[in-house]
Amino acid sequence: MSKKAILSGMRPTGKLHFGHLHGALLNWKRLQYDYSCYYFIADWHALTSEYASPGIIKESAPDIIKDWMMIGLDPKICTFFVQSAIPEHAELFLILSMITPLPWLERNPTYKEQMHEITHRDLYTYGFFGYPVLQASDILMYKASGVPVGVDQAPHVEMTREIARRFNFMYETQLFPEPETLLTPTSRILGIDRRKMSKSYGNAIYLMDSDSDIDTKALQMVTDPHRVKKTDPGRPEVCNVFTFHEIYSGSDIINRIDSECKTAAIGCVECKRIMANSLKTYLIPFREKRSQFTDDFVMDVITDGNARARETARETMRQVKEAMKL
Ligand code: TRP
Ligand code: SF4
Repeated sequence: MSKKAILSGMRPTGKLHFGHLHGALLNWKRLQYDYSCYYFIADWHALTSEYASPGIIKESAPDIIKDWMMIGLDPKICTFFVQSAIPEHAELFLILSMITPLPWLERNPTYKEQMHEITHRDLYTYGFFGYPVLQASDILMYKASGVPVGVDQAPHVEMTREIARRFNFMYETQLFPEPETLLTPTSRILGIDRRKMSKSYGNAIYLMDSDSDIDTKALQMVTDPHRVKKTDPGRPEVCNVFTFHEIYSGSDIINRIDSECKTAAIGCVECKRIMANSLKTYLIPFREKRSQFTDDFVMDVITDGNARARETARETMRQVKEAMKL
């Protein structure tokens, strides 16, 4: 039997950081061995927020694909593609727009939250409001059985299920399976200011930050807020630096920091230096691997993935039109 399909996308709005790694990519990587995975660059989605200065969108795509491959996503077993190279997504979006009731979009909690939080951009547009329908098209186009996403995207997968059900009911077909949400646990890694890591907060450590950027950012990291003086005992369990240690340092270092922090035997500056070194060591093989990806190779990966995705998309659109008697 052929493997079930999984699909997920990323908006190309800049470099990838450790939040992306722990909040999505490592999960994508685990899934690639058991499913037929479609991972794509959601460049039309990025337009919903970046429409005023879209330059960054095209620029970021090849770098993002390099980052995916650097961490071990394999283009031989996954299909990587760029959304805008598959115009069928726009076609299915149009068709699904016709059958999606407005109240479904109006009550979308992610929409409400983003309208509230993102104040530096005007998101009061038709495209932004309707983008869950575009997302539903992405998912249904490949008949994905599961969609790995973070909790903020879960309402969109839920809406996709409703749209699939409505389409199937209305046109008396079984064409679209209802996708499951494969919830990615929220990344324990926080930004250097202890808020959620995000480009827009300016608190991110990027996968391709230079060694000296990593040193600088590590030293700027907010630690246990109760540990004011070096003589105050610290609480590693609430310290973001310690979370990084737990992931990137060896167990001997972790144990030592754990006890020396609690007894104030180590200062935060030294602890951060050790953490920065662990992080840099962890990145060495990734960087080594990434340096072997030529631009031509990345282009070939994208061209090949686009061709595979498009074949599936064409067939789905044929079935959609057949079901609707168009
Ligand atoms: N909307 C998602 C985000 O902002 C990206 C995305 C677009 C996506 N289409 C998708 C994710 C389909 C999963 C499935 O992160
Ligand atoms: Fe955090 Fe390390 Fe300072 Fe303890 S010593 S509070 S773990 S930075």
